[in-house]
Parts: sequence; C-alpha cells; structure tokens
Amino acid sequence: MKKLNLVVLASGGGTNLQAIIDHIEAGKLNAQIKAVISNNSKAGVLERARNHDIPAIHLSHKQFATLEEFDLKLLSILKENQIDMLVLAGYMKMLSPVIIREYKNRIINIHPALLPSFGGPGMYGIHVHEAVIKSGVKVTGVTVHMVDEVYDHGAIVMQKTVPVMDDDTPESLAERVLKVEHQAYSEALQLFAEGRVEIIDNRAFIKK
Ligand code: GAR
Repeated sequence: MKKLNLVVLASGGGTNLQAIIDHIEAGKLNAQIKAVISNNSKAGVLERARNHDIPAIHLSHKQFATLEEFDLKLLSILKENQIDMLVLAGYMKMLSPVIIREYKNRIINIHPALLPSFGGPGMYGIHVHEAVIKSGVKVTGVTVHMVDEVYDHGAIVMQKTVPVMDDDTPESLAERVLKVEHQAYSEALQLFAEGRVEIIDNRAFIKK
C-alpha cells in the first residue's frame, strides 16, 4: 500500500494537524506530511510542524500582488510535493476555483458540526458552536467532507455525533467536538490511503 502524500493547510493552533501527526507516528495512518502551510506566520500549527521536522511554510495572499500569483505559488508547492491530498485543518480562507478544479476530489476539510447544518460563510471555529447552542439542538458533531467550489458543500466522507449538554458554553462544546475531530480526520484519511473512497454525484461511498 502506497503512503498518501499530504500537504496540510491551516490557520490556527493546529490540534488537528497534531492528531494527524500522532496517528502517522503510531502507525495508524499510512501517510506522510510533505509540508504544512499557514496564512498566519504566528500560527501554532507552524511550530507544531517544525517540532516534527515537517517543512513549515508561511503563505498569505498579502505576499502577492494578485490572487493568481498566490494560486500559482500554492500550486507549485503542491506539485513539487506530488501530493495525493490537500488537507484543510482549520484553514479559515476560501481556496480559489483554480486550485479546487486542479485537485478535484483530492481536497478534504473538517467542519465542527453536522453539515449541511451550521455550515456556510461565517460558520467557522467558535461561531459554529455558538450557533449550535443558540439553536437548541441536542446533537452536534463532526463532518469530514470533500471541498468543492461551494462553501461547506462537497461530498460527506464521515460524520460523528457529539451530544450538546444543557450547561454547555461554546467553549466547552468546542472542546468536546475537537476531541472527536482528532479521531475522525485520521480515520477518514486512512480510508483514502486504503483506496476505499469513491465519489459519485457528490456522494462518497466507502468500500468494505
Ligand atoms: C477545528 O475545530 C476545525 O473543525 C475548525 O477550526 C478548528 C481548528 O482547530 N474549522 C472550521 O471551522 C472550518 N470551517 P485546530 O487549529 O486546533 O485544528
């Protein structure tokens, strides 16, 4: 079985990146992370990458005169590393259609709720958990899904549920959901490593 070549894009603290690294090191995920890219030079995720000798790259739209130039640079990094999948792990920017088309069915994201509920523009990080609590639902969860040109819309690969408690704050809920994210993302990536995911008409089918 071939190791999956991954590049991870992230904006924040990087606990999902850490969980993926830990699964790889424990032999539970047959993959290697070729580089970690963040739009935020101070993001903890870059530090986590460096701690594991993974190339850590700061790449922001602000470094380029045009969006096209940014896309070309990102594409060149992805091509150089011959990636199988681009993994978004708390990446708070929208990827351009150029990248999404080039890596169709090979870009994956984790969202901290059960899509298609609580997704779409503005629904990221703590805002998701605030909206979940405000709505009064008793169950939330984690969605691992493919990225297409519509925000939070691509084929759903895996979902796991998490209960919402009466006394939850957005922060306490985020913490409970995050623990489940850390398992779900590596499990979903391992399905790709095993060649078990087939995407047909915006649905992901998992082969036995
Ligand atoms: C995670 O909860 C992830 O699901 C969320 O950001 C957090 C990043 O945490 N992503 C989104 O909201 C994307 N719409 P991390 O930096 O500790 O992995």
